[in-house]
Amino acid sequence: MKIIIDTTENVAKRAAQLYVDLLSRNPQAVLGGATGSTPIPLYKELIKLNKEGVISFKDAKSFNLDEYVGLEGTHDQSYRYFMNDNLFNHIDIKMENTHVPSGIDISEPEKYDAEIQAAGGIDMQLLGIGVDGHIGFNEPGTPWDSLTHVVELEQNTREVNARFFNSIDEVPTHAVTMGIKTVMNARSIILIATGSSKAEIVKKFIEGPVTTEVPASILQLHPFVTVFLDHEAAALLEKQA
Ligand code: F6R
Repeated sequence: MKIIIDTTENVAKRAAQLYVDLLSRNPQAVLGGATGSTPIPLYKELIKLNKEGVISFKDAKSFNLDEYVGLEGTHDQSYRYFMNDNLFNHIDIKMENTHVPSGIDISEPEKYDAEIQAAGGIDMQLLGIGVDGHIGFNEPGTPWDSLTHVVELEQNTREVNARFFNSIDEVPTHAVTMGIKTVMNARSIILIATGSSKAEIVKKFIEGPVTTEVPASILQLHPFVTVFLDHEAAALLEKQA
C-alpha cells in the first residue's frame, strides 16, 4: 500500500491527479465510485478539472459501490441521487454509462458483478472507510469472497448515517453493496480517510492484522492501493510518511 499524508485540501487535489493520469492514459476507463462525506472535496476537484478541460469523462464508465435498499434513485438520500448531485450532473460523463446498484430490484444482486465484468472490470475503485472498518457496506465479518450482495446495516452505521435523514427511523435497515471480492477485483484502488474520527481505524487497517473483523485490512493484500490521509486521520500511525 502506498500511503500519502497531506492536508485535507491537498488530499483531494492529489487524488484527483490519479484520475487525470488514468483518463489521459485510458479515456474509456471504468471508475468505481463511492458516496459519503469523504469524497465530496475530490468530486469538487474533478468537476473543476472537467470544466477547465483538464480531464474528460465522456468515454468513461462508472460503477458505484452501494445503494440503500428501498430507496428510489429520485430519493434525495439515495446514493444514485448523491452521485448525480455531487458529480455526474456537473461533468461530461454520459448518464447511461453511470451505474449504481438498484436498491429496488434486489432479486439478483450478483448480476452487478457480471455487468462490471462485461464493461471490462474496474480500473480504479474509490473507497472511503467506516469507523468500524467497513468498505462499501461490507461490515465486520463479511467473507473475503463476497460478491455484490444485500446486507443488514449495523446499528452503528445507521446511527452515523442518521445525520443525513430526519431521524434514525428513516435510515434504511438494508443496503446492497459490492462485496469484498468485487472491490479486490479492481485493478487499482484509492482509499481516502480524513478527520480525527478515522484515526483509530486507519491505524488498525494499515498496521493491524488482515482480518475479516476489519474489512479494509484486506487491502494490505492488493497490489495497487493508494491510501490518502489527512494529518488528523494519520495521527496514530506508527510510520508517518
Ligand atoms: C459509501 C460507502 C461507505 C463510506 C464510509 C465512510 O459509498 O461505501 O463505505 O465510504 O461509510 O463514509 P464517510 O465518507 O461519510 O465518512
